[in-house]
Amino acid sequence: MSWLEYFRKWASKYEREVEVYGYDPHRLIAPFLPLIRKRERGLDVGCGTGKSLEAIAKFCDRVVGVEPVEKMARQAEAKGFEVLRMRGEEIGRLGRFDFVSFFASLDYMDPERVAEACGRVLAPGGLLFFTLEPEHLGHAEHFRGFEPVKRLRKRAYEGQDYWCFLLKKC
Ligand SMILES: C[S@@+](CC[C@H](N)C(=O)[O-])C[C@H]1O[C@@H](n2cnc3c(N)ncnc32)[C@H](O)[C@@H]1O
Repeated sequence: MSWLEYFRKWASKYEREVEVYGYDPHRLIAPFLPLIRKRERGLDVGCGTGKSLEAIAKFCDRVVGVEPVEKMARQAEAKGFEVLRMRGEEIGRLGRFDFVSFFASLDYMDPERVAEACGRVLAPGGLLFFTLEPEHLGHAEHFRGFEPVKRLRKRAYEGQDYWCFLLKKC
């Protein structure tokens, strides 16, 4: 089964189940907020049902989600968010953003293609935030045109840590 097929099957239960685990994107990004401060245009890639869009909407004036799984995207739209149906690997053709995030989603993408697309969609000086499960830490090495700002390992929910990264587009 592909990852997208897996998320298609999980879509109707996703929100309820991650709440039981105690997964909360706000908590993952909280230690980075003093460095991020305010942003104008935020793009959340693999936004799922919109939980991570809610987290970035607290500091971005405008936010847009990217989500290829229709049942996930519709739930995010029901919360009032704009959601584009496309894959993370394709975001390079979107307009410029000064903040791009991947919460629990980069793990499922082609990191080489995503890094290249992020280089195109982020304005110079723009910030990129992503989380990675420890076994996918190698994905971070593909983001070569970016300056590391901060990284830390955080408990995402019981039994699962994520590495969290904040990078700046040079
Ligand atoms: C674990 S969920 C995280 C959802 C959301 N970011 C959150 O924090 O609740 C991973 C999401 O990534 C999406 N995804 C998987 N592969 C993707 C790809 N290639 N491009 C864009 N999104 C993808 C899935 O459909 C799913 O909605």
